[in-house]
Amino acid sequence: MSSLLVDRIGRLVSHDDEAPVSDAALVVSGGRVVWSGSRRQAPPCDRLLDADGGCVLPGFVDSHTHLVFGGDRAQEFEDRLAGIAYTAGGIRSTVAATRATTTAELAARAARLAAEALRSGTTTLEVKSGYGLTVEDELRCLQAAAAVTVHRTLLGAHVLPDGTSAEDYVALVAGPMTEACAGEATGVDAFCETGAFDAEQCRTVLTAGVDRGLSVHVHANQLGPGPGAQLAASLAAASADHCTHLTDDDVTALRDADVTAVLVPAAEFSTRSAYAPARRLLDAGVVVALATDCNPGTSFTTSMPFVIALACRELGLSPAEAVEAATLGGATALRQGDVGHLRPGARGDLVVLAAPSEGWLAYRPGVDLVRSVVRNGEVVRNGEVVR
Ligand code: NIG
Ligand code: FE
Repeated sequence: MSSLLVDRIGRLVSHDDEAPVSDAALVVSGGRVVWSGSRRQAPPCDRLLDADGGCVLPGFVDSHTHLVFGGDRAQEFEDRLAGIAYTAGGIRSTVAATRATTTAELAARAARLAAEALRSGTTTLEVKSGYGLTVEDELRCLQAAAAVTVHRTLLGAHVLPDGTSAEDYVALVAGPMTEACAGEATGVDAFCETGAFDAEQCRTVLTAGVDRGLSVHVHANQLGPGPGAQLAASLAAASADHCTHLTDDDVTALRDADVTAVLVPAAEFSTRSAYAPARRLLDAGVVVALATDCNPGTSFTTSMPFVIALACRELGLSPAEAVEAATLGGATALRQGDVGHLRPGARGDLVVLAAPSEGWLAYRPGVDLVRSVVRNGEVVRNGEVVR
C-alpha cells in the first residue's frame, strides 16, 4: 500500500489534540491519515510531499452549494451593483436555463466547478438540486451531481414554478418527486422564506424526506426574520443554512437541537446584505460551518479561502475559528465523521498553504495561497505559488 509523507510542515492544523502544531510531518497510507508527529520521528514512506515550512490544513468541506445549473445571471449581478435588490424570483430564470440544458452538459458544468473548488482546497462538497422543479428535471440535476459528490440534496421546494398552485406543488415535491429522487439523494432541503415556502409547506416536504431516510437541511432566515431556524430545530435538522436574520430564541433553539448553522458570507457579499450573527452563534455554543453557497444568483464562487477571508473580516471570526468552521464545521453539517480533521483514520484530504499560518488566508485576500491539495491520499494539485 503506497504511503505519502507530508514533510516540513511549519504549522499543522489537524483538530487533533495529540498532534504537534509545529515542525511536524504527517503520513497518509491507503487513503487515510495513519500518523502525525514531530518530523524527526517520521517513518520512511514511498512518496514525499514537501510542505516547505507552510501551513497544512484539513481539506475544506463545502457543505452548501448549488453547482448544477444552466446559464448564468451576470446581468442580474450587475443590476444589483447599480442598486436593485435581490429577490428569490431570480431563481426562475435559472430554472428555465437548466431545463434547457442536457443532463450531460449539466454534469460537465458541475464537474468544471468542482474541479475549480478542488484547486482551491475543497475536498468534500455538498450539491443541491433546485433548478429543475419538475420530477424529471430535479432527478436529472441530482444525477448530474453524482459524478461530483455523494452528498446530494433534493431542493425541490426552492421556489414555486410558474403555472401551479403552492398546494399542488408541495404535494408533488413531498410525493412523487421525493419518491423518484430519494435514491439519488442523501439529503432534503427547503427554502423557508417569504417569496418561497412557508414553515408548514417546508415541514411537509422535509418530513417526506425524513421518511425516505434523507438528512434534513433548511434554507433558513436568509432574506429576513422568519420561522426557518425554529423549523430546523423542531425537526432536529443536520443544518440550518444562511441564518442571516436570527433572534436570540432562534440561536438557543439551534443550539439545544444540535443543528449546525451553515453560514455563507459570500452570498451576503454578492447580494450586498447584512452578514449573519456568527459571533452570537459561536458564543452561544452553536456549531458553525462556513460554505460557499456557490450558485449563479447569490454567490458565484467556489472559493473557500475567499469565504474564510470574509468570515474573518465581516463575521468576526478568528482565522482559527474560520478554518475550523470551513473544515470540521462543514463535516458536522454533513454528518461525515472522517473528514474536516487530520486525526488518525481521517480521509487523506489536506491542503498545503504557501503561507506560514491560516491567518494568511485573510491577511492576503484574493491571493492563491494553496500550494498543494491532497485528496484520498493522492496529490491532486502541487503548484508553486510565489510567497
Ligand atoms: O442559497 N436561497 C435560495 N437559494 C440560493 C439562491 C438561488 C438563486 O438566486 O439562484 C441561495 O442563495
Ligand atoms: Fe443556498
